[in-house]
Amino acid sequence: MKSIDTAVVVGAGTMGHGIAQVLAMAGIATTLVDVDDAVVQRGLARVKENLDKGVDKKKLEPAARDAAGARLRGSTAMAEALATADLLIEAIPERMEWKRKLFTDADAVMPAGALLASNTSSLSITAIARSTKRPEDVVGLHFFNPVHLMKLLEIVKGTLTSPATLQRAQDLATRLGKTAIVVNDAPGFATSRLGICLGNEAMRMLEEGVASASDIDQAMKLGYGHPMGPLALSDLVGLDVRMNITEGLFAELGTDGFRAPRLLKRLVTLGDVGQKSGRGFYVWENGETVGENPATRR
Ligand SMILES: NC(=O)c1ccc[n+]([C@@H]2O[C@H](COP(=O)([O-])OP(=O)(O)OC[C@H]3O[C@@H](n4cnc5c(N)ncnc54)[C@H](O)[C@@H]3O)[C@@H](O)[C@H]2O)c1
Repeated sequence: MKSIDTAVVVGAGTMGHGIAQVLAMAGIATTLVDVDDAVVQRGLARVKENLDKGVDKKKLEPAARDAAGARLRGSTAMAEALATADLLIEAIPERMEWKRKLFTDADAVMPAGALLASNTSSLSITAIARSTKRPEDVVGLHFFNPVHLMKLLEIVKGTLTSPATLQRAQDLATRLGKTAIVVNDAPGFATSRLGICLGNEAMRMLEEGVASASDIDQAMKLGYGHPMGPLALSDLVGLDVRMNITEGLFAELGTDGFRAPRLLKRLVTLGDVGQKSGRGFYVWENGETVGENPATRR
């Protein structure tokens, strides 16, 4: 089986830039692709910032930072980048029809023996794989935010994923320094299905006035030992991303817990989509919360 020397990450947003960073740090020549060159450049700048921070904190040698930086480039020419890639990791928005189109296009140009992966949080890997002529080479590689700090890699085995592809995914997780879990292809897998339920209920509690956002978050942090409360975590993920996921899970699973909370819909309509827009359940400045968003109150 061909070793993984070159990779393309498609989608240079919250997840894509972080995934590109960990691939480059693991010695893989990586191209970060987006439809928008400004997003590609912003993604590359965020990687540089993370790597510099690693050096400042003495977690990374300057030579390792420079080598990782040299292995990373940006592009808007997806087909050209994929034509010589051993690995695709797709990190575009959580829309099945967009992902299926991307995998059909990738299948047409990628070399035989390449590994095709999606970072989807909740969508069916089998359905994505079926948009290609090589469903056995397709697997879910679900990373967590921020990618360079979070240990978990949730590997999702589609019904058509071959044992060799699964093994390749597990070997890649080890190479990236991640701890892998393997989950069968079910809506929301192991992580999103539980995490979204908790987040949605926290939003409904805030809507009902049970407690403030920070007290709801403290309840889970101090009472249950979660490193971050569900509302702050939703802000970090992006409320638009969360809404796409919960709408998909509600359509698939039909249980009330996944019905999108009214407050979530309201904030997304206002454009208050979390840390990336400066406002979500909280107001954010320089990566820190500086108060609760008044728009969450009636
Ligand atoms: N945000 C999180 O914390 C998180 C965590 C785990 C998994 N995910 C999943 O990762 C995926 C990406 O989420 P995100 O938060 O990074 O989204 P995002 O909106 O931050 O970034 C998506 C990027 O994809 C680009 N894009 C859209 N269509 C494209 C195309 N056809 N070709 C190339 N680029 C295209 C957009 O321009 C955008 O920059 C989703 O499936 C999401 O569910 C997100």
